[in-house]
Amino acid sequence: MSTVSLRQERLLVADGLLGASSLAALRDHVALSDYRGVHGQKWDRVWRLWDGNPQRGPSVYYDPDRRFDHKVPAYPTGTAMDLLIDAVRTQSALHPDITGVEGVDWAGIYLCPWLYPVGSALSLHQDAAKYTGSFTFFLHLRWRLHWGGELFVYPPADPARLGSLPGLGHDHPWMSDDGPEDDMIADVAVAISPSPNRLVLLGEDRPHRVARVDQNAGAHVRASIAGFFLRAP
Ligand SMILES: [Fe+2]
Repeated sequence: MSTVSLRQERLLVADGLLGASSLAALRDHVALSDYRGVHGQKWDRVWRLWDGNPQRGPSVYYDPDRRFDHKVPAYPTGTAMDLLIDAVRTQSALHPDITGVEGVDWAGIYLCPWLYPVGSALSLHQDAAKYTGSFTFFLHLRWRLHWGGELFVYPPADPARLGSLPGLGHDHPWMSDDGPEDDMIADVAVAISPSPNRLVLLGEDRPHRVARVDQNAGAHVRASIAGFFLRAP
């Protein structure tokens, strides 16, 4: 039985999501999946040039009404990913104010495993409007306080303030850290440690980033499964 550790507007942290056998099965599945660097084909500009080289595993969909065009396995996949999809749907239904209501606001989930080795990060961003929210589930065996890798979640940007910002200049965020991003958020964030068996539900309009996995983590990889709630078409 999971417990709610934090609840804010469009942010929920639930711990103890999966039972021991489900968690072990999911860990095995993630460990045995094939990975590729996120920049394998070309540089993915979601990540900055200094964000290291996270590894991405195979994607699956939850798409009960076949409303999305996809070329990857769909639920039920017959793998341990199904256990997580079930648990995420349950949490979403228990907290519909975070990511919306299944079948009304969102109609599917798109998810995949991620490995963030030491030195990797994901800089500040806001997820695309085609999603009503996202989730992250942490499944490494253990995580220590000074290993970094926290999920930082910021208050929503103030539209009035955004409108008063000077021009964006010519630097794209993935190439330069001199853009206006510091002014786009209130710089008091929630830092969520990537504790094992923890689920984070994140609603739309909440800028976030993954802190760099610290050198202290050494050979411990930040392993997660993350996904998006697909806005109903
Ligand atoms: Fe994101």
